[in-house]
Amino acid sequence: MKINENFLNLKDSYLFATVGAKYAAYQKAHPEKKVLKLSIGDVTRPLAPVVIGAMHRAVDEMSRAETFKGYGPDQTCYGYDALISSIRGSYARKGVSLTDGEIFISDGAKSDCGNILDLFSSDNTVLLPDPVYPAYFDANVMAGRRVIFADANEGNGFLPLPDPAVDADIIYLCSPNNPTGAAYDRAGLKRWVDYANERGAVILYDAAYEAFITDGSPRSIFEIEGARECAIELCSYSKTAGFTGVRCGYTVVPASLRRGGAELNKLWARRQSTKFNGVSYISQMGAAAVFTDEGERQIAETLAYYRKNAQIIADCLDGLGIWYTGGKNSPYIWMKCPNGMGSWEFFDVLLERANVVGTPGCGFGKNGEGFFRLTAFSTEENTREACRRIAALLK
Ligand code: MLT
Repeated sequence: MKINENFLNLKDSYLFATVGAKYAAYQKAHPEKKVLKLSIGDVTRPLAPVVIGAMHRAVDEMSRAETFKGYGPDQTCYGYDALISSIRGSYARKGVSLTDGEIFISDGAKSDCGNILDLFSSDNTVLLPDPVYPAYFDANVMAGRRVIFADANEGNGFLPLPDPAVDADIIYLCSPNNPTGAAYDRAGLKRWVDYANERGAVILYDAAYEAFITDGSPRSIFEIEGARECAIELCSYSKTAGFTGVRCGYTVVPASLRRGGAELNKLWARRQSTKFNGVSYISQMGAAAVFTDEGERQIAETLAYYRKNAQIIADCLDGLGIWYTGGKNSPYIWMKCPNGMGSWEFFDVLLERANVVGTPGCGFGKNGEGFFRLTAFSTEENTREACRRIAALLK
């Protein structure tokens, strides 16, 4: 037998595993220190009461023979009607009309941003912004695909636009962006949609942070004319409603998206019915409660809590005169490392001298060198304390 030798081209460990291991080693060596984590984007607020209520009811249904559920409905790739129609309603409020068959329930955006690659030949060239969420890059390295990069930097506000001289088949976009927090406006997304349609490329659009948009930027790529002919959207309840541990998301594959003479929606349905058995009924019922009126009101409170943390971090950096982007439409703040430090150098200084953990920008790509990502997903108390320590270290 032969292994998939593409795995040998990966770095030894995934970025957040490396950061987590360094944090754990430091904490083990210094058990007396309270190390504050502003690194991986994992949420800290509990699930909204409306979600908890829906999940409790779903558990009760599972306890009675008459209402017990086994596998989900196979005609919708195991998505329950209540959830699919609530997602359809949330898109309708953004002015996007979808049919039920275009919405596929997933266990989160991260899984599907790799799984979706099953639809595409490994001969395709993939275009990624640099810096970029490492899961896109690693998933394509595993498949042996050629990866090229679009430079994101201070000059373009970390929002690269397509270069007509570059040929790509698969394009990953994430807006609001992980790691930089920058969000495309309509004109920027329209440039990408036109570029993809001209070339017959496909955009894989990660909208996991769309709920953080406050300035009227598009919350779905399908708000852009022409996107239904070139884009697949991946979204998640993780950051919107605190589902990082519960697991539920959705992937939208428009019926009008055709490549190579095939309807990608049909290919994805075929793939999912073969390799996936759905998300638990309990998780789906919890997720269905998120886009009710009461659910929207309750998650707005949680989003406001994280936005306040982002403001606390932004105020701290403003006070120190440190350049940053993000934090406005996003839970991530992308800061320049102080005093010309490299990303890992600043990581070590911050960990050892302030006992604060963040994510080194260079872990997201070469253009991330000299930058550092902080997350607003911690508790307010820890965010304030981390900022107090950062200010004391750097002033
Ligand atoms: C991050 O910190 O970038 C995110 O938590 C990653 C993810 O959502 O998988």
